[in-house]
Amino acid sequence: MADRVVVTGASSGIGAATVRRFAELGWETVAVARRADRLHALAAETGAHPVVCDVTDEAQVAAMAAEVEATGGATGLVNNAGGALGTESVESASNDDWRRMFEVNVLGLRTVTAALLPVLRAGAAHGGWASILNLTSTAGLAAYAGGGGYNAAKYAAHAVTEVLRLELAGEPIRVMELAPGLVHTEEFTLNRLRGDAAGARKPYEDVVPLTAEDVARVLVGAFVQPPHVNQDLIVLRPVAQSSVFHTHRGPLAPKAG
Ligand SMILES: NC(=O)c1ccc[n+]([C@@H]2O[C@H](COP(=O)([O-])OP(=O)(O)OC[C@H]3O[C@@H](n4cnc5c(N)ncnc54)[C@H](OP(=O)(O)O)[C@@H]3O)[C@@H](O)[C@H]2O)c1
Repeated sequence: MADRVVVTGASSGIGAATVRRFAELGWETVAVARRADRLHALAAETGAHPVVCDVTDEAQVAAMAAEVEATGGATGLVNNAGGALGTESVESASNDDWRRMFEVNVLGLRTVTAALLPVLRAGAAHGGWASILNLTSTAGLAAYAGGGGYNAAKYAAHAVTEVLRLELAGEPIRVMELAPGLVHTEEFTLNRLRGDAAGARKPYEDVVPLTAEDVARVLVGAFVQPPHVNQDLIVLRPVAQSSVFHTHRGPLAPKAG
C-alpha cells in the first residue's frame, strides 16, 4: 500500500499547505473539511481525495472513515481541524463559544482518531507502520489572559495526545504532536475575532510570523523520518517570538559586540 495520509481541516491554512507538501513528495492524501468547493479545488490541484465532513458530527466521521477504507485505506492521520473563538476573559466568556472550541479541537480529534484507528492498524499490518500527528498549539502549553476556552481546548488536545501514545504502546503506530506559535494564516484570527479584519491584521504587524508552508514543511518532515522515530512534541515558533508572551516587533538585528 502506498503511504496515504488523512488531513483534517484541509480546506485552508495549515491543512491545505500540508496536503500540498505531502503531494509534492508523492504521498497520497485524503483532504477532509466542511467546505466542498475549497476541497474540490485542492483536489484538482494536488490529486487529494476530498471528503466533506464535519469532524464534530459522529455519523459524518464514521462515513468519512468508511470512505477512506473503501478508497485505499491510510497509514497516516493529521488531526489539524480546529480553531479559536473569542478572546474574552474566563469571567465574561460564552459557554457556547467554549463548547464549539471543545467540540472541534478536542472531541473532533478524538472522534476522528477513534474512527480511523482500525484503518490505520490495517495500514500498519500491511506496510509495517502508521502515524498520527495532532496539531495543537503553544496555547496548549502556556496560558495567557484572554486565552480562555482556546487554552483549555488545546491543553486538553495535548493531554489526549499523551494518553493516546500510552494507550498505543506496543503497536507500530507513532503518536506525534506539533505545537506552533504565531502562524499567519488567512482565516484563523479572522474567525477568532468574528470577522474583524483590522483586528485580525494586528498580531502579524511588524513581525515575521510562521507561514502555513513553514508549519507544513516541519509537519511532513516528522512523517518522513524513519518510522521508528517518534517526535513526541514539536514546538515551532518564529524566531521573533521567544515565548507566548514575548514577540519582538520590528527588524531583528545582531547585538553590537
Ligand atoms: N494560525 C495559528 O496561529 C495557529 C497556531 C497554532 C495552532 N494552530 C492550529 O492549527 C490548526 C489549523 O489552523 P489554521 O491557522 O490553518 O486555521 P484555519 O485556516 O482557520 O483552518 C482551520 C481548518 O479547520 C477546518 N474546520 C474547522 N471546523 C471544522 C469542523 N467542524 N469539521 C471539519 N473541519 C473543520 C476548516 O475548514 P472548514 O471551515 O471548511 O470546515 C479549516 O480548513 C488549528 O487546529 C489551529 O488551532 C493555528
